[in-house]
Amino acid sequence: MNAGTGKTALITGASSGIGQELAKLFAQDGYNLVLVGRSDDKLDRLGDVFKNNYGTQEITVIGKDLSEEDAAQDVYNQVKAKDITVDVLVNDAGVGLYGLFATDTDWEREKAMIHLNVLALTQMTKLFLYDMLSRNEGKILNLASLLSITPTPLMAVYAGTKAYVYNFTQSLVNELKDTNVTVTALLPNATDTDFFHKAGAENTKVTDEVQDPVMVAKDGYNALMAGKPKVIPGGFKNKSYEVMSYVAPQEALSALMRDKMSQKPDPNEEEHSNGLAWGIGIGIAVVAGIALGYAYMNTNDFTRARYRYKAKSLGDTISDALSSVVDNVVDSVVSAYNTTKDKASDLTHKADVVKEEVMEEEVVS
Ligand SMILES: NC(=O)c1ccc[n+]([C@@H]2O[C@H](COP(=O)([O-])OP(=O)(O)OC[C@H]3O[C@@H](n4cnc5c(N)ncnc54)[C@H](OP(=O)(O)O)[C@@H]3O)[C@@H](O)[C@H]2O)c1
Repeated sequence: MNAGTGKTALITGASSGIGQELAKLFAQDGYNLVLVGRSDDKLDRLGDVFKNNYGTQEITVIGKDLSEEDAAQDVYNQVKAKDITVDVLVNDAGVGLYGLFATDTDWEREKAMIHLNVLALTQMTKLFLYDMLSRNEGKILNLASLLSITPTPLMAVYAGTKAYVYNFTQSLVNELKDTNVTVTALLPNATDTDFFHKAGAENTKVTDEVQDPVMVAKDGYNALMAGKPKVIPGGFKNKSYEVMSYVAPQEALSALMRDKMSQKPDPNEEEHSNGLAWGIGIGIAVVAGIALGYAYMNTNDFTRARYRYKAKSLGDTISDALSSVVDNVVDSVVSAYNTTKDKASDLTHKADVVKEEVMEEEVVS
């Protein structure tokens, strides 16, 4: 018998990308499925594939635009009306939006994104978590992102929504620690789905290093089943980004992400020389991150916490030291200028006195 036989997983955003790969894993493990999204025809077809390929017993499709007011409540009511018990909730549905916040992006799309990525996810969690707690059993997976832990110019609101998801999820991990209900945050790096195209970011540099949604879903699924608080799929390189997000000053992270989110250079144009400087800078940062990450991974929890604290203090100290160096240089230049100006005016004064004395002597003689 499969692990999920007789149990039900509700998945939002199962019509494509990471959500679809997650739904497949649940189907393979014998779960009944509730699939929620706007494209109910796509979800119906997916349900048929799961029934044919994996013998899935029960598939319920709920067509819903989760960016609408109280959409989550409506989904919950429909699930209750069908007398379905949700054992696993996967909040995958989400969208992004690319562009400068002040001048490029459209507020209506931003509002819908906040609604979907933040409000719907929170309300779904609230409604289903309460039922899970009353049974003292259940699992929740929330789709955060590696952008949850770095400022991200050109996707500022999206990154803000994902920072919320991550922070919210980690807070719940603590609130639920004495229960049998677990909540897990999945933090993928750029993944090869339709996400960037829909967000208008398909031509950005970050899309050159996308990872496989099958691998992302598998890592998320395993972490969810193990009840882990979070997972960053993609091995050591992506985990080193996490370490970097603790140690690097925020300004440096923003600059790094700004570069990653910028448009790819025209292949016919020569790379600007500062591209090389960026490459070297990013290379050094990644190597430093990898080294720190290696040390970090090979220690126990207590030492890790100390590393994190020390690394953060070190980051703050470096940042403070840099600004104090800049302040000192500026102070020295200003004070040298003032001293020189004073000396010059002193000399001018002395010269005037001597001139007057000479003139007086000439008059006397
Ligand atoms: N791809 C990445 O690089 C990446 C990285 C980190 C995190 N993530 C996160 O991973 C999650 C899945 O994204 P993906 O990469 O798999 O992108 P995707 O292929 O575009 O999938 C997005 C899913 O969300 C659903 N959705 C969008 N708007 C909706 C709405 N208003 N109501 C209900 N469902 C809606 C879509 O279904 P319909 O359009 O059919 O409704 C689709 O199933 C998102 O939360 C995203 O933020 C993605």
